[in-house]
Amino acid sequence: MARITFEKTAQDGKARTGVIRTPRGDIRTPAFMPVGTAATVKAMLPESVAATGADVLLGNTYHLMLRPTAERVDRLGGLHRFMNWEKPILTDSGGFQVMSLAALRKLTERGVTFKSHIDGSKHEITPERSMEIQRLLGSDIVMCFDECPALPADRDRIAESMELSMRWAKRSKEAFGDRPGHALFGIQQGGLEEDLRQASAEALREIGFDGYAVGGLAVGEGQEAMFDCLDYAPDQLPQDKPRYLMGVGKPDDIVGAVARGIDMMDCVLPSRSGRTGQVFTRHGVLNIKNARHMDDPRPLDEACRCPACRSYSRAYLHHVFRSQEIISAMLLTWHNLQYYQDIMAGMRAAITGGRFAAWQAEFHAGRAQGDI
Ligand code: GUN
Ligand code: ZN
Repeated sequence: MARITFEKTAQDGKARTGVIRTPRGDIRTPAFMPVGTAATVKAMLPESVAATGADVLLGNTYHLMLRPTAERVDRLGGLHRFMNWEKPILTDSGGFQVMSLAALRKLTERGVTFKSHIDGSKHEITPERSMEIQRLLGSDIVMCFDECPALPADRDRIAESMELSMRWAKRSKEAFGDRPGHALFGIQQGGLEEDLRQASAEALREIGFDGYAVGGLAVGEGQEAMFDCLDYAPDQLPQDKPRYLMGVGKPDDIVGAVARGIDMMDCVLPSRSGRTGQVFTRHGVLNIKNARHMDDPRPLDEACRCPACRSYSRAYLHHVFRSQEIISAMLLTWHNLQYYQDIMAGMRAAITGGRFAAWQAEFHAGRAQGDI
């Protein structure tokens, strides 16, 4: 089977555009990956997610191993068939979710044991087991098993944790083996410490991966500190491989990350916000719950081609949100995902055309700070 490759087609400043070729189709970069944690992008049909322009989804080892279990997904033909998504899937490796969701976590050199947030049952994930689960799921892009300390943490704790993650990266690579058609990405850690990030990058390059993620950010440090880190972290990783910033972010986080050399991102924000009434538009953020939308016949965003904007007023969307109708989550999620994919398409075109700085200026100029 053909190997997964990355071809950079243009660069403008530090911003890059290109394509990751996989047996399940091309991923145009910079790419935003909608989150399909439990084998669904909540409130969306897979064909609707594809219609927004998404080339790849993110799935979660942690959730799927607990329910319906990786072995069951495998018996049913793999995650792509199970959830009716034929394009590429990237899976996160589980450690990050254990730390944020599970009870009674115990971390050792071997791995992590924890109690399920669903039924309290006891489980263990090691680098080897995470690779096995991601193989059973049929993931196209597999993430190394890592550990991510919550910030702020002291430097010793961040260094120890990073070093453990690098030992786990080595074990992940050995357990992953050689699987043509599937990619394994390493994850850089090291908090906000430039030298620890550098040491982590060197350890990962030494092992050798198909792509490199920047982990351990967007964990409470704020945008300014994250951008300070992204001013150097992507440069420490190989130029010729995709760079993935995990768990980011708001629209302006994404644009700032691409400007600093990031190629891929994922975040629950557009889909989760679709269910809580927070709407992202090119003019800024609005909350559809707000009473001032009650009589407003205008669409959310006159320039958007999604079904929510094409066929419904803000007044209707306010009404169905307030009435807790299911269509509210469907329409708002579609709109938010469409907006995110439109940003990515706009950035790809601007980088290709050598006008990324102008695109960025226009992106910021059009946006209000508060609610619109
Ligand atoms: N999601 C967001 N941040 C991280 C991280 O540092 N590691 C992993 N595995 N997943 C993440
Ligand atoms: Zn829309």
